[in-house]
Amino acid sequence: RTTAVILAGGTGQRVGLSIPKQLLKIAGKAVIEHTLTTFEKADSIDDIIVLMAPGYVEDVEKIVAKAGFAKVTHVVEGGATRNETTERAIALLGEGLAEHEDRNVLFHDAVRPLLSQRVIDDCVAALERYQAVDVAIPSADTIIVTRTHGEDGEFITEIPDRSRLRRGQTPQAFKLSTIRRAYEVAAGDPNFQATDDCSVVLKYLPDVPIHVVAGDEYNMKVTQPVDVFIADKLFQLASTAAPEQNGAEAYRELLNGRTVVVFGG
Ligand code: CTP
Repeated sequence: RTTAVILAGGTGQRVGLSIPKQLLKIAGKAVIEHTLTTFEKADSIDDIIVLMAPGYVEDVEKIVAKAGFAKVTHVVEGGATRNETTERAIALLGEGLAEHEDRNVLFHDAVRPLLSQRVIDDCVAALERYQAVDVAIPSADTIIVTRTHGEDGEFITEIPDRSRLRRGQTPQAFKLSTIRRAYEVAAGDPNFQATDDCSVVLKYLPDVPIHVVAGDEYNMKVTQPVDVFIADKLFQLASTAAPEQNGAEAYRELLNGRTVVVFGG
């Protein structure tokens, strides 16, 4: 059994609108509705739970009812941080769960509405062999590590070999028992600090290998205002050619079939 957990507890400070960015309409639908549609359609997903920013649970319930998402079983409030939101999801999934049933859980950012079915399927397939799975893409940019020296500003301390660097996306997928155990150990650490779920497994269950599945350039996270425009454009392209498949291949097909006009010099 595989459950998708949609992490939507944030308020989107960096986009900086009066509503959380997951409720923003892109290509005619709220960002979170696009995300839910993808999981609702996925054959490998049995049920979906949503953890929403406090004060906006009802908005999501309305979207779910209107769209008729039959797999969504719970819409509840998230926590104060992304990791607290994950913890709430784990607690929720524990209720009424049969002892023997170690289900798969896929944690996905609500604000990555362009996730492809291929990535979901690869994550679920990888959980047949591994207890923890991340999704990542190579980095096109050189990544530098810096240190700040007072008023003089930032200086480079290291430039890691780019061929080994990856940019982490979501979903992050786990056996429920594994991610639960990782958070239980983390709870005993007074200095606990993390921004994603794989880093909790890496730090607190160092013996558990975390397999990496190839992500997708299009699986972008709506983080800054400019991302809203990029996502909108990507949805326009996707809807003209391949509504079911929004991975790299679909966009390549599109580019092959179109004249690209470049304005300016
Ligand atoms: N998230 C969450 N619970 C929180 C904070 C974040 O479930 N307390 C979710 C967000 O809703 C989002 C995902 O984690 O789907 C990725 O986080 P991010 O892009 O940082 O979202 P926000 O926290 O909303 O953005 P910002 O940091 O700009 O405020």
